[in-house]
Amino acid sequence: MFERPDAGERAILVHLTLQIGQEDLDELKELTKSAGAQPIHVITGSRHRPDPKYFVGTGKLEEIKFAIQEQQADIVIVNHPLSPSQERNLEKALEVRVVDRNGLILDIFAQRAQTFEGKLQVELAQLKHLSTRLIRGWTHLERQKGGIGMRGPGETQLETDRRLLAVRIKQIQQRLDKVQKQRHQGRSKRKKAEIPAVSLVGYTNAGKSTLFNSLTGADIYAADQLFATLDPTLRQLPLNNGSEIILADTVGFIRHLPHELVAAFRSTLQEASEADLLLHVIDAAAEDREETIFHVNQVLDDIDAGKIPQLKVFNKIDLLDSVNPHIDYDGDGKPVAVWISAQQGLGCELLQQALGQLFASSKVIRKCYLPASQMGMKSKWFAFVRIIDEIIDDHGNCQLTLEIDQKYLGLLKDIKTEAVE
Ligand code: GTP
Repeated sequence: MFERPDAGERAILVHLTLQIGQEDLDELKELTKSAGAQPIHVITGSRHRPDPKYFVGTGKLEEIKFAIQEQQADIVIVNHPLSPSQERNLEKALEVRVVDRNGLILDIFAQRAQTFEGKLQVELAQLKHLSTRLIRGWTHLERQKGGIGMRGPGETQLETDRRLLAVRIKQIQQRLDKVQKQRHQGRSKRKKAEIPAVSLVGYTNAGKSTLFNSLTGADIYAADQLFATLDPTLRQLPLNNGSEIILADTVGFIRHLPHELVAAFRSTLQEASEADLLLHVIDAAAEDREETIFHVNQVLDDIDAGKIPQLKVFNKIDLLDSVNPHIDYDGDGKPVAVWISAQQGLGCELLQQALGQLFASSKVIRKCYLPASQMGMKSKWFAFVRIIDEIIDDHGNCQLTLEIDQKYLGLLKDIKTEAVE
């Protein structure tokens, strides 16, 4: 039975030019650093198609072996998806841990997830990824499960591992279902209260968390690492025009987000797919800016959020020459993009202004008289009106000043109201 070598921090990156499915080498370096390893050497090459056994050819395999020794590397990261057997064959031949791009992203997600739900989602994605790569090295699962009664007589270790894995996957799935139900309840409550939901989306490292913090004053973890945020965080945000929105920070997107991750994070991303507006945060200084916009829109399509209205937020303008904070409008005078620097606090008030314009409320103020006998009605309104003033006389009758959206005026049809300028 083959024991997987331990992973270390000195990484050799392997990047081949293939006829199909090209990945970005610079991004792999960033991903490697985000996972806590150092890319100390890069091996490139080109092939028509991957070798079925080792992914790379035998000549390249020798080159990697040599580099491992010379650089004293302890992990090899391959910038392509490997099949389970390719990964295993490479580890056997190279005698160091080998991780493919998907495994690397999963590892980063595992380190970053902060909430209970996020952690469960990552673990589930990891287990599913690993269940196709079953080899020895699974004893930590036994420890988690207590390992009691799990090993039947005559069972091979592999079968035990498979069973442990299936039990754990089921367990996590059940817990996730529960958490997701709660999240759903939260969302329906907010819908009922008619508070618009706005989700921050954007390519990883675009500055979503920094913007979220500067808008809401929350202290979310913002780091110059990919995927610093893995859990949506919700905050109520008052706008300058007196209305308010719920703002959600979501996980950073990336090109070719592994499918198992899109699936695992579906519920987190659902926050985005049920939003009334998406704030698409873009690193305005990134060389591949248009490409990242394209990839984010692709993921949004994947999670059925492609048709939700977007306000583009071009962030990091402090890194651009002579771009001042400003709002771009379309032909109808509707804001379509805001140029800001979240870190320097430049243009954040313009973003608030644009949001205020997009959510311009159709609220009106009404004065009404509610006799004591009809006081029960008040409890039915609470989700739709804001009581500005309330005077109760000695007989329990009430003089109310209300703020209400015009579309709900029908609720007041049975009582006498008068408009207030
Ligand atoms: P993920 O969690 O990976 O999705 O990242 P994110 O989009 O939430 O980005 P985050 O807010 O963590 O910012 C990434 C890096 O960009 C951090 O180092 C920030 O300090 C930096 N940053 C954010 N806004 C600005 C800005 O306006 N100007 C500059 N120069 N840097 C910024």
